[in-house]
Amino acid sequence: MLKRGTLKLFHLLVFMQCVSSEGDFDWTKNERTPFYYSTFPAGFSWGVGSSAYQTEGAWNVDGKGMSIWDAFAHKTGKIPSNETGDSSCDGYYKVKDDVTLMKDMKLNHYRFSISWPRILPTGIKSEHINEKGIQYYNDLINQLLDNKITPVVTLYHWDLPQVLQEKHGGWQNASIINSFNDFANLCFERFGNRVKYWITFNNPWSIAVEGYETGEHAPGLKLRGSGAYRAAHHIIKAHAKVWHTYDLKWRSKQKGQIGISLTADWGEPVDISSQKDIEAADRYIQFYLGWFAAPLFSGDYPHVMKDYIGRKSGQQGLGASRLPVFSPQEKSYIKGTVDFLGLGHYTTRYITQKNFPSGLGDSYFADRDLAELVDPRWPDPGSEWLYSVPWGFRRLLNFVKAQYGNPMIYVTENGVSEKMLCTDLCDDWRMQFFKDYINEMLKAVKDGVNVKGYTAWSLLDSFEWDEGFSQRFGLFFVDFRNKNKPRYPKASVQFYKRIISSNGFPNPREVEGWKRKAVETCSSSNQLLAADPLIGHMEMVTEIVVPTVSTLCILLSAVFFMFLLRRRI
Ligand code: BGC
Repeated sequence: MLKRGTLKLFHLLVFMQCVSSEGDFDWTKNERTPFYYSTFPAGFSWGVGSSAYQTEGAWNVDGKGMSIWDAFAHKTGKIPSNETGDSSCDGYYKVKDDVTLMKDMKLNHYRFSISWPRILPTGIKSEHINEKGIQYYNDLINQLLDNKITPVVTLYHWDLPQVLQEKHGGWQNASIINSFNDFANLCFERFGNRVKYWITFNNPWSIAVEGYETGEHAPGLKLRGSGAYRAAHHIIKAHAKVWHTYDLKWRSKQKGQIGISLTADWGEPVDISSQKDIEAADRYIQFYLGWFAAPLFSGDYPHVMKDYIGRKSGQQGLGASRLPVFSPQEKSYIKGTVDFLGLGHYTTRYITQKNFPSGLGDSYFADRDLAELVDPRWPDPGSEWLYSVPWGFRRLLNFVKAQYGNPMIYVTENGVSEKMLCTDLCDDWRMQFFKDYINEMLKAVKDGVNVKGYTAWSLLDSFEWDEGFSQRFGLFFVDFRNKNKPRYPKASVQFYKRIISSNGFPNPREVEGWKRKAVETCSSSNQLLAADPLIGHMEMVTEIVVPTVSTLCILLSAVFFMFLLRRRI
């Protein structure tokens, strides 16, 4: 009896220590307050984002090497309708046009990524540097700066050089850390005189879990229960190495900042008065955000991950935990390697405790011992996973403040999709999404969270990874059926512009009319888009029918001419 009671008390103390030692986030206080009219602090930065594979196209042009996403999408059956990012938005050819769109929106920054194989076709710096790839990014950066838009550059948004995957196993192999560091160092050398904001990795959770655990993403490996942990371990070390390279070699000259972009959903306890649900929600966040954030801020994985994965590995008869271990030297090398935290956020889940007994197969998901639920009343206009739950954003931002010592945060991604078939440019639900999410971010700033900028995801409709083109996140609609890939503004462009020019939501009188005015502008774009199949058809006529008819005419004339000649002879 006594033993059991003592054990329980011990567990409670350990839990309290784990949760409270890292911060004092109050799980029980979920304030849902009315819309908050106010503005952001002066200097708040507004931007939009994109990534190389999703938008550039030109997959094999001007010396670019193949990436794991080129290889993955080219395999039959991986992406709906076997779509690929081979040409996507043709962003590679449309730098000027796209920067003009951004300029018109009066953006402060543009977040894009550099395709590693575009500048290092084999991934290895000493083998070959593709100067044409460097030139492309130079042009983009210069265009942005000429238009007073600050470039925010991601070094890795998932398109690993295929050679590094084939020869070395990609993020499964520690050798990749040096290759990534060489690539990053080259970027600092060539672009760092103009780029002052660097992001090492975009959403490493997704790289690890979807690339090496479930295999839904490139490179498509299903190494359940261990692949994601190993990939993440190398990603964290690679991030730290690149941060130190910048810090030692470039910072004093270039005076920039370097961070990482972590994406996390919010996890709300189903029953806020249940300690078990609170613990489960905490685990959800620790396995999502804490997996990467805790090493970078505190030097090691969250206690709860070490406990759960270690215990389950033991029950499975393994000699060591499936979660790799950092040495003491590595811990101090990794700790503190973020100048700012990039945060991507889209949605929320309700979380409750659920046991996954070991023996049912290892997996990252089973390791967490929890179940995810959604409220059927939450709107889900696009991607099936994306429910619009604005208050979750404020909760997440406050959690980061409490847990990681109020770091400087740039929101690096936030947005909502719509289904492919929807060609309505009057995207009322997206305006509502931005309005409510940005407002919750404003409340978080009032709560004292140190948010310095916001990046709407994304500039254009683009290749949505394993969903192909079936989901559209863009502020601009891209007509992929038309060879010229024209861009059409959705109403949310106008709406976002108003938020930017007012630096928030100054007062009800002004804000009230924004949606209505934005909708007025989108009906004319809708008409243009409706005429687009006709224009596309006309192009087809000029490009296919005209050459075919001309060739036929030439052939017929030749036959007729020969016939005449014969008769003469
Ligand atoms: C990725 C984006 C993607 C978005 C929506 C993010 O985590 O970084 O590339 O478009 O999710 O799925």
